[in-house]
Amino acid sequence: MKGTTPEGVRSEREAAAWVQGMFARVAPRYDLANHLLSFNIDRYWRAHTVRRLRDALADPAARVLDICCGTGDLVQALENARRAPVLGSDFCHPMLVAARRKIERSGKGSPVFESDALHLPLGDATLDVITVAFGFRNLANYESGLREMWRVLKPGGTAAILEFSQPPNRVFAALYNFYSRRILPILGGAISGNRDAYTYLPESVRKFPNAEDLAADMRRAGFGRVSYEFLTGGIVALHLGRK
Ligand SMILES: C[S@@+](CC[C@H](N)C(=O)[O-])C[C@H]1O[C@@H](n2cnc3c(N)ncnc32)[C@H](O)[C@@H]1O
Repeated sequence: MKGTTPEGVRSEREAAAWVQGMFARVAPRYDLANHLLSFNIDRYWRAHTVRRLRDALADPAARVLDICCGTGDLVQALENARRAPVLGSDFCHPMLVAARRKIERSGKGSPVFESDALHLPLGDATLDVITVAFGFRNLANYESGLREMWRVLKPGGTAAILEFSQPPNRVFAALYNFYSRRILPILGGAISGNRDAYTYLPESVRKFPNAEDLAADMRRAGFGRVSYEFLTGGIVALHLGRK
């Protein structure tokens, strides 16, 4: 199985159900946990992604979708940058409820809808930009995820994948691994009330393809001009590709 494999799951269907249930449980405290545990750096990672997409977002008619949008932080960063609505989708209802509440407050009217990122209810070649922040790693099948992103993009369209990665510097990686495996489950469990989620997080990052392999997977899925950059010492990588 080429996708996330939470402990105890035996199939892609079970993996997706596990992920959906886990995010439903953490949804009420997801934002708080995210910002505290990342020391607020997660806002910078999303803002950086938006900056890298500036040219693609410049056209006010561009159709933009953020998949696995969760509580909508990247949707909001994107809509602020282009001063126009963007679409958001996720398969976890409680996360979308939180997203809608936040987006309504900002008044830009970006619609969010419930959908599995592996089966988007969109025609071929309908989007100019597709983004995913910290959601791709959770897909039950990465190859299907990339294929679906490629399918819904127009020729020339841009895909951006912001995801946790493995820091290339060994000393920094060791420190980060200590934090993410030993400290994060305790703190994350206390803040979110769900220790499983923060035990799963470092495990899923450890099993996720490294940045070079993900870039190769994107090329195999048909993306061109694939590039990536490490952020914050490689805790996170931003991959870009064009259809
Ligand atoms: C770690 S959260 C990230 C949320 C948001 N993008 C952010 O930057 O904070 C991952 C999200 O991916 C969603 N997700 C995971 N697998 C999915 C799938 N197959 N289809 C749609 N959403 C999915 C989860 O429901 C969850 O809301």
